[in-house]
Amino acid sequence: MNLNIAVLPGDGVGPEIATQAVKVLNAIAQKFQHNFTFTHALVGACAIDEAGNPLPDKTLQICKNADAILFGAVGDPKYNDLEIKNRPEQGLLKLRKHLGLFADIRPIKTYEPLIHKSPIKEKVIVNTDFIIYRELSSGIYYGEKTAAKDDSSASDTCFYTAKEIDRITHLAFKAAKNRRKKLTLVDKSNVLETSRLWRKRVNKIAKEYPDVKVYFLHIDSAAMQLIINPRKFDVILTENLFGDILSDEASIISGSIGLSASASIGENAVLFEPVHGSYTKYAGKNIANPLATILSAAMLLEHFKLHEEADAIRNAVEKSIEYHITTPDLNSTKKFAHTSDVGDFITEYILDKKSVLYDIENISLGQSTII
Ligand code: IPM
Ligand code: MG
Repeated sequence: MNLNIAVLPGDGVGPEIATQAVKVLNAIAQKFQHNFTFTHALVGACAIDEAGNPLPDKTLQICKNADAILFGAVGDPKYNDLEIKNRPEQGLLKLRKHLGLFADIRPIKTYEPLIHKSPIKEKVIVNTDFIIYRELSSGIYYGEKTAAKDDSSASDTCFYTAKEIDRITHLAFKAAKNRRKKLTLVDKSNVLETSRLWRKRVNKIAKEYPDVKVYFLHIDSAAMQLIINPRKFDVILTENLFGDILSDEASIISGSIGLSASASIGENAVLFEPVHGSYTKYAGKNIANPLATILSAAMLLEHFKLHEEADAIRNAVEKSIEYHITTPDLNSTKKFAHTSDVGDFITEYILDKKSVLYDIENISLGQSTII
């Protein structure tokens, strides 16, 4: 398959982790005889620095011409004092809006060797496996905003149309139908009009998916249930802001936010990015966890129905976890792996390089370490 992929590494640790994902995708292209081309473009703080705009026209054009976008992270504390509309994050928010990326799919699962890494008890999280469907191009992120010049008041408006709710709701129901057939709408319908509209639309659409059981939870209760009983969730459907918050919270179940991948889906565009941010403090140290971005690359392949290829990435990621070839967020020993080591291991594992397999065997015999 020919795929033209726009790569937007962005800020902070973004470039380091995006490099690993591109390396892994190149390995997949080599092994499965695909032709992936990568076009790099600026976004976020680095785009403000170079082009005076967090989403330069050139970047938007490259994204529009691409089959898929691989995104790193945006944000830099040096721009903390900028008005909202000029901040680096606008690079991502405008991109989502311009490309109509309305559904953000964020899967959460546990990895056996990492269960002890979660601050939550093993018996609570074992076998957790759910997906968050976060509405991504509307809601309070995009409603009208005001900020009084004298700082005496400010406002953000949460606005949803039935159409915006319906399109992601259908996707979430379809996903639930192919999974454990449970869909939970998370809202705040005891307080918010928008949430009441979400409930009405979801109840209406539910009739088209009679085999899917629908549950309703308020966001405050959902935030608690996620920690005390995460196994009860299958597909969570929620609005933009609640989805942003719940997906960071949920990542703790896996053991690190450095494992959380995502796919943002639109009518004519798709973008894949880690859930985590730019962590500028760690930038350039080669210690950021590249797995979330590498797993996002697997979601990219899955999107194009390259199932075997996506599995090859996921298997290699699982091997890296099994053999503790992981960055400091997951590996607190002195033998932690660097960002590029993790990328190298996964690449070589995919390519069946003898050396990496030989090292794995030795590690399992306790004879040597790869790092
Ligand atoms: C995310 C991020 C973004 C968001 C930021 C960087 C604007 O936190 O993708 O979850 O809030 O959507
Ligand atoms: Mg977020």
